[in-house]
Amino acid sequence: MIHYKNKAQVELMRESALLVSETLAAVATMLQPGITTLKVDQFAEAFIRDHQAVPSFKNYKGYPFACCISVNDAVVHGFPNDRELRDGDIISVDVGVFRNGYHGDSAYTFAIGSISEDLKRLLRVTKESLYKGIEKAVAGNRVGDIAFAIQEHTEKLHNFGVVRELVGHGLGTHLHEDPQVPNYGKRGSGAKLQDGLVIAIEPMINLGVKEVWYDKDGWTVRTKDGKPSAHYEHNVCVRKGEPDILSSFEPIEKNEQQNKNLDSSYYTSSVYNNAAGSVVAV
Ligand code: MF3
Ligand code: CO
Repeated sequence: MIHYKNKAQVELMRESALLVSETLAAVATMLQPGITTLKVDQFAEAFIRDHQAVPSFKNYKGYPFACCISVNDAVVHGFPNDRELRDGDIISVDVGVFRNGYHGDSAYTFAIGSISEDLKRLLRVTKESLYKGIEKAVAGNRVGDIAFAIQEHTEKLHNFGVVRELVGHGLGTHLHEDPQVPNYGKRGSGAKLQDGLVIAIEPMINLGVKEVWYDKDGWTVRTKDGKPSAHYEHNVCVRKGEPDILSSFEPIEKNEQQNKNLDSSYYTSSVYNNAAGSVVAV
């Protein structure tokens, strides 16, 4: 069953989504080679609790941490652990918070030190595909329009693997609500998007093959060929004419660019940006 949100509920959801954004922005200040992903998780959990919120993921279906931290070939749902981050790693940090009765759920992939050109293209194209999906999140369209836009940009145009097993989702008083929002599909198919529907759109895109496997911890999803995978997630309210993005990458990107231990050249480099500052499709 789909739950549509009224204006007041959407404003509460924006607060939760922006708290996730601020958490990820805080994480962006501490990432560097040598730090363990467990430290990142503990830091994020403290930040969330300091802001009168509860981490949504902790104990969700038995998930034992506040964040999902997925490094390199880990796609999503990675367990934080005592492995130290290294120059050239990519790390997806996925955070959920529950505050005032509503969940926020957003993810961002960071590049540690400096990364290869292949990885830069993976991160840039995955982030672009998220916005291409979001563009379609307007009343009157269907879920398949979002899915198709993401798949076209990543799989068709760039030959990356689109993960099939995991999907985006409705969001609200529950972390996962209807409808499912896949990152692959047919234009004009699936549930109709109506005003007040809040969804999490979250492309999970592999540099190599689309196939994945579950690690023995029962949670961590990894690419079958061992190649890296990227993941970005926004919370979006469907509106007539123009979608309303509730989460924001602005504070994250600001801190990312100021952190010398992170590579943000995949979207700030002049190769990828025109004079007006907007991304040029390559
Ligand atoms: N963003 C992820 C999702 O929507 C995070 C869920 S992790 C879990 O599936 F631990 F909570 F399951
Ligand atoms: Co999600």
